[in-house]
Amino acid sequence: MKKIILSVLLLLLAGTAVVAAYGYYLVDDKSAQSTSDKLSASDRISKGEYLVKAGNCMGCHTARGEAAFAGGRSLQTDFGNFRTPNITPDVKTGIGSWTAEDFWQALHNGKSKDGSLLYPSFPYTNYTQVSRDDADAMYAYLMSLPKVEKANQAHELSFPYNKRALLVFWRAAYFRPASYQADNSKSLEWNRGAYLVNGLGHCSACHGGRNGLGANAGVNDLSGGALTSWYAPALTNSKEVSLAKWPAEELIALLQSGVNQHTAVSGPMAEVVAGSTQYLSNADIKSMATYLQAIPTVQAAEKDMLDKAMAGPELSAERMEAVMKQGAALYKTHCMDCHGEKGVGVANIYPALQANPAVLSHALSNPVRMVLSGGFPPVTKNNPRPYGMPPFAHALNDAEVALVLSYVRNAWGNKAGVLTSSEVNRYRSAAIE
Ligand code: HEC
Ligand code: HEC
Ligand code: HEC
Repeated sequence: MKKIILSVLLLLLAGTAVVAAYGYYLVDDKSAQSTSDKLSASDRISKGEYLVKAGNCMGCHTARGEAAFAGGRSLQTDFGNFRTPNITPDVKTGIGSWTAEDFWQALHNGKSKDGSLLYPSFPYTNYTQVSRDDADAMYAYLMSLPKVEKANQAHELSFPYNKRALLVFWRAAYFRPASYQADNSKSLEWNRGAYLVNGLGHCSACHGGRNGLGANAGVNDLSGGALTSWYAPALTNSKEVSLAKWPAEELIALLQSGVNQHTAVSGPMAEVVAGSTQYLSNADIKSMATYLQAIPTVQAAEKDMLDKAMAGPELSAERMEAVMKQGAALYKTHCMDCHGEKGVGVANIYPALQANPAVLSHALSNPVRMVLSGGFPPVTKNNPRPYGMPPFAHALNDAEVALVLSYVRNAWGNKAGVLTSSEVNRYRSAAIE
């Protein structure tokens, strides 16, 4: 209705504008051949904008401080450094000459316009689940963006990963294009959640395990994954994060605002919340929570919960007492003002350290990096001015960081392995950079 009124106004005001608008709709009709939804061009663009956020496309395709979607961000992996391409509609350097079909081939099938195979550092192994209608809406949105002329940079990959043609073998072993298949025994809400979590949300790209060739165990595998310098915890394991046991509101709050009563997201997860989940509708976030919380928790054995093997030596009672005493003193001086005497933090401001899976995790990278480098939860509309944590790399030496974290991991009912200085040192050079 609004559009009709607008068209009439335009007609009255300037004939040429109407001709242009008409031409625009004609072009859209042509590319809409594959699209079965009955949206107007502008509604399709808004829908696409929303879906592009759900996929966090901008996060990877934007270099810090540069034009959105124009690429150039470097992604470090075990195989080398990827440089994301320009996906603005510039014809020469972006995807301006691509049709909706070309775009679909990239998202659904991992193939570029010229037919060359794409590396799975572009998470098309998840995006393949996206429907054709949704892909077409995303295409319409990207095509509506300003053209930015910025040439793509070559990836810096080690041999043999720099041989793109070899991806043919990788794909034969690990990839089949597969649209989302609804499970009719489950609710609509569950299905919408599964579609978003496993598809555009690509949660498994970080939270899933990968084999030596970088292949995920599956789009729905959330059993924990090591990134180059962070660990994305299992979301379905009693030893790490077990979302099935969270109150739904806590998960919803975390995805919408980056903080909740007990915890705060950091590092790569802060980017996910900042660039993607904070923009999703309440209904979609609720659906994602419904799906995630219906995944049964894997109950870890008691002995695995203690993580002794991962975290250094078993100490005599006497030595442990000394560690706790020294650690407590450091905690009091450097941490207590924010995280509290009993480690319970301040709801929505300072995360609790008591019973916090991020603190108890067998993967020490995250808490060690947090203490060395500090961090901020993301800026979100619900939490526009997040409180941060200062870096301690210069204030505390390796032994002190090990002591204070060993204390935190064993105070207030917490129970996990102690850390050694060498464990801290592994992350120090990265922290100082
Ligand atoms: C985790 C980072 C990451 C995310 C998230 C991501 N991409 Fe990419 N994308 C890449 C990388 C890296 C490449 C280059 C792959 C290659 O060279 O084979 C790429 C390639 C592409 C290409 C092919 C471009 C060309 O010139 O061949 C398109 C199209 C694309 N991405 C669109 C998207 C869209 C749409 C989204 C959101 C739904 C998205 N990407 C999200 C990393 C990402
Ligand atoms: C780019 C990698 C990446 C992606 C994609 C990603 N995560 Fe994470 N996530 C992480 C990392 C790293 C952590 C650990 C740091 C932290 O606790 O914030 C984490 C932590 C979490 C936590 C625990 C937070 C806490 O403080 O206990 C939850 C819950 C979570 N992610 C859910 C999701 C969901 C749901 C998705 C998909 C919509 C997702 N993640 C996608 C990297 C990622
Ligand atoms: C000025 C307040 C402040 C001080 C002092 C402080 N922290 Fe933090 N801490 C925070 C905030 C805020 C976060 C959340 C940061 C984020 O999300 O990136 C945090 C996060 C953490 C986390 C990660 C928790 C999680 O859920 O991922 C750990 C571990 C941690 N702090 C330990 C410590 C230790 C140990 C000290 C003392 C050496 C300390 N903090 C001092 C404010 C503080």
